Amino acid sequence: MSVSDLIDQLRESVGPTSVFDPADLPSATTDVRGVHQGAAVTIVRPATTEEVAAVVRICSDHGAVIVTQGGNTGMSGGSVPVDDESGRPSVIVLLDRMNKIESLSPDGFWATVEAGVTIEQLQAAASAAGLMFAPDWGARGTATIGGAVSTNAGGINVLAFGPIRDHILGLEVVFPDGQTWNGVRALRKDSSGYDIKHLIIGSEGTLGIVTRVTVKLLPAISHESTAMAAIVSISDLAEIARLARAGTNGTLTALELIPEMGVAAVVDKLGWPRPLETRADWYVLIRYGGSDPVNSDLAEFLQRAVNRGLLTDAVVADSRRQEEALWLLRDEISPPGLMPHNKLALKMDAAVPIDRVSDFIDAVEATCRDLAPGAAPYIFGHIGDGNIHVHVLPGESDVDTFLGIKPALGRALDQRTWDLGGTISAEHGVGQELIDRIIGQKPAIEFEMMRNIKRLFDPDNLLNPGKTIPRQPAS
Ligand code: MLT
Ligand code: ZN
Repeated sequence: MSVSDLIDQLRESVGPTSVFDPADLPSATTDVRGVHQGAAVTIVRPATTEEVAAVVRICSDHGAVIVTQGGNTGMSGGSVPVDDESGRPSVIVLLDRMNKIESLSPDGFWATVEAGVTIEQLQAAASAAGLMFAPDWGARGTATIGGAVSTNAGGINVLAFGPIRDHILGLEVVFPDGQTWNGVRALRKDSSGYDIKHLIIGSEGTLGIVTRVTVKLLPAISHESTAMAAIVSISDLAEIARLARAGTNGTLTALELIPEMGVAAVVDKLGWPRPLETRADWYVLIRYGGSDPVNSDLAEFLQRAVNRGLLTDAVVADSRRQEEALWLLRDEISPPGLMPHNKLALKMDAAVPIDRVSDFIDAVEATCRDLAPGAAPYIFGHIGDGNIHVHVLPGESDVDTFLGIKPALGRALDQRTWDLGGTISAEHGVGQELIDRIIGQKPAIEFEMMRNIKRLFDPDNLLNPGKTIPRQPAS
């Protein structure tokens, strides 16, 4: 059957206005960093679960593979096609039309929504009901709950509330044979056997297409206070984090590391005033939240940390606007759109045990100095979770020299991460970015189990091929 038959049948099934030529939607075939691009023969925008199931059956009949896409904000290239090894055509399925909040229970603390609902939409709906959907990160306006489920996304609130996995009560999933599994449940406890939803969470669209989600909501936080503080030495991070956790009867809801390189770039790009006059190599952004005011807790923590020689200076947001400005700065420090040569960077999304963050940063800096002198490791992120983003930029080195050393540098940095008991994929998934690198992280038996699970769900490798599961190495 030809590609034009495939497209004709898709048009017949979901309607001609829901089937697009990729040339008319170029943003769907490139990832947000502009690093991964992939060809698709068509892009389909189903509006219902039934339409998703019909699209899956048609693609299966025509031997086409399916790449499901949410907000396309993923950092590992999981949401754009790769060239299929067996030459099968790729179809991108966009779930942006499935954007309804179906129901929200203020007493049950849950909401059931379609997969294309954005994180911001979900946060707003929860907030209107006096509740909170806790997961949060910079791309909240575009990232969708379906995409977040697929990557087990993280963000700045993981420290207090856990990754997306901890916020999902139920799922509806269309499997590669076109069957729909209705696992939309609002249970807090269920010990009735294998938990299929946890297999789907983090599977990056390789096992099924998530179409509806029931999320957990939390009571809204009534009081928050945020500060930005200049750090004396990066080797003190564990002590700063320990003091910060102990410093409130409320909750430490965020602890983020910000490098001066990031502050300077954001201030320069947006023409903002510097948030803190004092300059240091590194800063922390810290937030307390609670049902009682937490301002004095934060002020006391900062004073204690200054007295112990851990911090030199700090600014506490004294208005909602100032607080938002500090978090906007955090949203802006991700390299795409900020750092020159971002596309060439060696990117890491590592996590190590929370008491080893300083060791990890030292190891990254030392390895870069040894192997790629002149390169600039840009390091920031969620130190409260031990999750550090590293984008090694060419810096002052010659671009070709940098690109020549990049693979060896990647291998060395991955090994340093594993030596510290870490992971090279904390919250961005594996996608295509890490597919060859992840093989060193786990025992072979773990990958073999993943391959077996994939075969069980998707024997024809129809869904998002070339992602998540590394190929078996030649023996
Ligand atoms: C962030 O925390 O800003 C992101 O996960 C993105 C990044 O690694 O650049
Ligand atoms: Zn992050």
